[in-house]
Amino acid sequence: MDQVVINEVGLRDGLQNQPTLLATADKLRLALALQKAGLDHLEVTSFVSPRAIPQMADADELSHALFAASTRHQDYAALVPNLRGYERALRHPYRELSVVVASTDSFNRHNLNKSLPEALDGALTLIGCAREDGVRLRVHLSGAMGCPYDGAQPIRHILDLAETLLAAGADELVLSDTIGSGHPRLARALLLPLIEGFGVDRLGLHLHDTRGLALPIALVAIDLGLRRFDASVGGLGGCPYAPGATGNVATESLVYLCEREGLRTGVDLEALQEAIALAASLTAQNLGGPVSRWLQHRCPVAGALPAGGLS
Ligand code: COA
Ligand code: ZN
Repeated sequence: MDQVVINEVGLRDGLQNQPTLLATADKLRLALALQKAGLDHLEVTSFVSPRAIPQMADADELSHALFAASTRHQDYAALVPNLRGYERALRHPYRELSVVVASTDSFNRHNLNKSLPEALDGALTLIGCAREDGVRLRVHLSGAMGCPYDGAQPIRHILDLAETLLAAGADELVLSDTIGSGHPRLARALLLPLIEGFGVDRLGLHLHDTRGLALPIALVAIDLGLRRFDASVGGLGGCPYAPGATGNVATESLVYLCEREGLRTGVDLEALQEAIALAASLTAQNLGGPVSRWLQHRCPVAGALPAGGLS
């Protein structure tokens, strides 16, 4: 069966938008609960300015705790906004890092305090460093389906940015629908030329479910052969620089869709339900999409999960 890679970003993208600051020990508990559910790829933190994102101020402490608690080092990834963050991250055994370039000047200025050309330059520098250091680099193109400040962007503009980053050697270009303004037709228009030019293995999707179209977009992408998706436990999240953005597509919903499409995720939905409950209690948020609600309330016979997962 075809395997899909689900990057669980709740600990980073999810928690960075929560008003409550979680204790490092609680983040560690959540990370381990997610791992226990079979989520093998966790983006656990970001090495950003603690003044910009206080929720991530314990990036070093959490990284120490995680790498001490687990032997599965290759599973952890972190986001870095600049060279300083990259160097901080590499004091830990991370083998995969993410960087961000937003699609417009306004978004980059809010997010990174840089113009678009400066942000692009910064990412290109980090691509070079990562290639030298043997670190797998995922480059998020934020606002790829619409900017929180400047609205819709021409498809050609997004493709130019994506192609520049891929041609420079980004291991993975992640089209990020930061404010959930994307839709299947737009996703197809962006994905088709990139798949043709660079192959489906170097592309990923990061979807927010603001308007409920994350799963329809994911389905289009699955049909086009895409196998790399970000998702967030129970739909936790938002974006501090993207007013109105709701959380990422809920991990449990994406897992359910993928498994129903015949793709293997390796995720145990029952165990994931425990992680959702933990995330909800730690953040005091009402988490969980329809799949989570179904898991909670399903009739024991009609709602039973088939042994060996969903088929
Ligand atoms: N880690 C920790 N501190 C950092 C840092 C990093 N990677 N990069 C910069 N800083 C600190 C500097 O030391 C300086 O601290 P000081 O004011 O105590 O002296 C301060 O941040 C400002 O440094 P400067 O280089 O002028 O950066 P800036 O003000 O232009 O901010 C970013 C740029 C990228 C560091 C900041 O905007 C940021 O961290 N943004 C987070 C973006 C993000 O994660 N968005 C959500 C994900 S998409
Ligand atoms: Zn996001």
